[in-house]
Amino acid sequence: MNKVEQGKALAPIIAGTTVALYISYKILHSLLHSKNKFSKEIPAPGPAYPYVGHLFSLGNMPAETVSQWHKELGPIIQLRMGVQTWVSIDSPALAHKVMVTNGSKASHRNENEFGYSLYSFGGKGVVHSQPNAAWKKVRAAVAAAIAPSQIELHMASIQDEAKKLVDALLETSEKTNVGIFPFKDLQLYIMNTVALIGFGRTFPAKDDPTFIDVSSTIDEGFKLSGVECDMANYLPIFTIHNYLTGIRKVLIKYLAERRDPVFGSLIKEAYHADGPNLVKYLKENGYDLSEEETLVIFSDLTGAGTDTNSVYLCWTIAIMCNYPEAQKRIAAEIDNFVERHGRLPLFSERLELPFCISAMKECMRYKPITAFGIPHLANEDIVVDGYIIPKGATIISNMVSMHKNPEFYPDRPEEFVPERFINALGTSVAASKGKVEDRDHFNFGWGRRICPAIHMAEVETFVGFVELMSRCFIEPGEDGMPNINKAENGGIVVSPIPYKVKFTKRKN
Ligand code: HEM
Repeated sequence: MNKVEQGKALAPIIAGTTVALYISYKILHSLLHSKNKFSKEIPAPGPAYPYVGHLFSLGNMPAETVSQWHKELGPIIQLRMGVQTWVSIDSPALAHKVMVTNGSKASHRNENEFGYSLYSFGGKGVVHSQPNAAWKKVRAAVAAAIAPSQIELHMASIQDEAKKLVDALLETSEKTNVGIFPFKDLQLYIMNTVALIGFGRTFPAKDDPTFIDVSSTIDEGFKLSGVECDMANYLPIFTIHNYLTGIRKVLIKYLAERRDPVFGSLIKEAYHADGPNLVKYLKENGYDLSEEETLVIFSDLTGAGTDTNSVYLCWTIAIMCNYPEAQKRIAAEIDNFVERHGRLPLFSERLELPFCISAMKECMRYKPITAFGIPHLANEDIVVDGYIIPKGATIISNMVSMHKNPEFYPDRPEEFVPERFINALGTSVAASKGKVEDRDHFNFGWGRRICPAIHMAEVETFVGFVELMSRCFIEPGEDGMPNINKAENGGIVVSPIPYKVKFTKRKN
């Protein structure tokens, strides 16, 4: 067979192969295409500027801006934060599917420069670590150390601290007609409960030098973990800027000269303190933690545990002042309990104060404590409801619009309704373990990373609030009613704008 004949013989085979290849290509193409057809684009708000994206469009109150975008675009939106993709969700059901149902793919943290590389020595401790074996060990240790039975050991001291808080508020308030801003007193109370459990000690007053040192170290840390100091993570070009302007040096100096010595000495003292504390608990129970791990754990706990609860109580006082009828109902409920039992209620007796518990929950829903919780990171593509959240995306829950979601909170979601939870009085720990539709609010986050201190937070705030409402009536100061329609961006937390209220002794 010559070459021409050979060609003729091969022609049908080549043609057949070409057709087969073409058909395969078309099938593959249509399969790929059909995947795209069925996956919905996550909407993005405009305008997004070249390179920086939405980074500078968030304004002073990012949670409010993002809430507005959710109103326009729906329950899931994507933001381009420089080179990072952020996916914000404000539907509880969708957030649950992403961060709980897909928990194995959505529980990582961002490996940013300050929090991850420097503050936590490359992901040690609890907050910034990746969900690996070391994190599991540390989280389990912390959870065991702040379990209800451990908190119970400190209950009498927590109640004492609550009495001191209310004594101080009444005393300072009585000295002035103008009214007082209670934040520092609340911070002292909350930090003392955290320090009692953590280090077996308290701070005597808000002008105590060690209290000032610890609280200012936490505040500085919160500021340094803001976007402005971490620009290089969003815009790599800022790596050179950070180097030239010395921001990296500032971060390192803060850790070496403030965080490490302040927490280092609290930990050292705690080993020798009288009575139980978390530092001793971890050592005595055989948790084999390095010095760096211990340092990060305790700065994590003190940082995460102080301003969250203080800001919550600060909002609660401002809200109570605005709603005197709710105050009166809470006071009547507490007085009634005291008449029957001759003492204030314990946390375990909270169901005897249904209106009070409902109002406390409603304060947290009405004024969420953080803007976005603590961001999670997708370590794999996550497919939910036809959307693909890409691997590497940062996932946030937008707390403001999530807590006003009309599908989840159909009854007047924009208003403060103190009796909203009157038929859902279980603890937030219980609610957080149930179905998403049974959850009361989402301030404590999601899934595997959910706040491990929900019980501790609820006990501290319950004891402080009940003591306060049993002895005081809260009235506006000279400048009028606290403005609860505006808020202040405190980095991670969202605080009320400073206000002045009067604490007047009420007749029991
Ligand atoms: C009202 C009070 C509090 C609120 C609103 C709050 C909120 C949160 C949120 C939103 C998260 C992130 C959850 C997530 O990633 O989905 C978190 C994590 C955490 N919280 Fe809280 N928290 C509060 C009190 C406390 C207290 C009192 C402590 C300890 C003393 C604490 C320690 C922690 C720790 C260590 C984490 C990190 C958990 C992890 O990444 O695995 N929190 N909290």
